[in-house]
Amino acid sequence: MTDRYEDQMSEHVLFVDDSKMTIKMIHDLFSSEDIVFHAAASAEEALQLVRQHEIAVVVSDNVMPGMSGLQFLSLLKSISPDTVKILMSAFADLDSALEAINTSEVFRFVVKPFREEDLMVAVNEGLRRYRTKMAMRKEDEDVLLSLAQTIELKDPSTRGHCDRVGVYATRLAQTLGLPRNVQREIKYGSWLHDCGKIGVAESILNGPHALTDEEYTHVKQHSEWGADVAVRANLSQIVRNIVRHHHERYDGQGYPDGLAGEEIPLEARVVAVADIYDALITDRPYRKGFAKGVAFRILADMRGSELDPAIVDLFLTCMAGPDAVNPARLAAGDAPARPYQPAC
Ligand SMILES: [Fe+2]
Repeated sequence: MTDRYEDQMSEHVLFVDDSKMTIKMIHDLFSSEDIVFHAAASAEEALQLVRQHEIAVVVSDNVMPGMSGLQFLSLLKSISPDTVKILMSAFADLDSALEAINTSEVFRFVVKPFREEDLMVAVNEGLRRYRTKMAMRKEDEDVLLSLAQTIELKDPSTRGHCDRVGVYATRLAQTLGLPRNVQREIKYGSWLHDCGKIGVAESILNGPHALTDEEYTHVKQHSEWGADVAVRANLSQIVRNIVRHHHERYDGQGYPDGLAGEEIPLEARVVAVADIYDALITDRPYRKGFAKGVAFRILADMRGSELDPAIVDLFLTCMAGPDAVNPARLAAGDAPARPYQPAC
């Protein structure tokens, strides 16, 4: 059950309880609050909702048919780590409360039968905690995006490239059904995939001709240099994999490690498709960008050689939709200040 009490800016709160009466009571209690209200009768139903919405706070009963509330909240740690978790259970279940706090990063424990006021306070404190987390994440994102834009300054022809690669790759990650936190790391990895280019001479990056063999050998080192930066900056393994492996080829002929097929981390295979597509449709100092249809045909020709065929197919399907990203508009430098989520 999902109600929308307010506009799109309201935060989503999910209540999980197999008792219809309890859900009805909570529904009435929060009817005047500025939240988007979701309810689920089981952990399985709740997981579906978590995959569809950015849930700020989840309040879950512990004893339910199927997966327990505790198991559900433990799963949430990896699927939706930013969601603030509140467990409801009977007083006699105090051991579960301690386990929840210790193993599942549960924020509050509400004893059942609960007082309305206690539940309201717990949810509002949970929302405040969520907002704090989001504010800190935005600061981190701003730093990462600024770094990516600094790299683009070295090579003006790639203006907006990292942002666009992030848009394409995030959409692919969504379509692949990857958890939300993995989608986010793929976005960060997309922004930073070429951070090693900071070590490449501008005269090479901005040369008016295709690279000579010698220049190409030099430029190829950017993936390893970038990976060193990502390790030293303590970035996630997903980001490190993207930075190091975005030039591996599906047939094993890429660099720096010559990985093949599924040896290449999935996130790097995803970003490779997004990266190559954007490079194809963008003007370079030595050639005009290709038309969208031509770029699609070139990508299709790379299936199984340069690129993962399944991901190319998924990308082409995404881009064929009526709501696909408009690459011409983005390529003209009209990229949004922040990445957006196109439907595709
Ligand atoms: Fe690169």
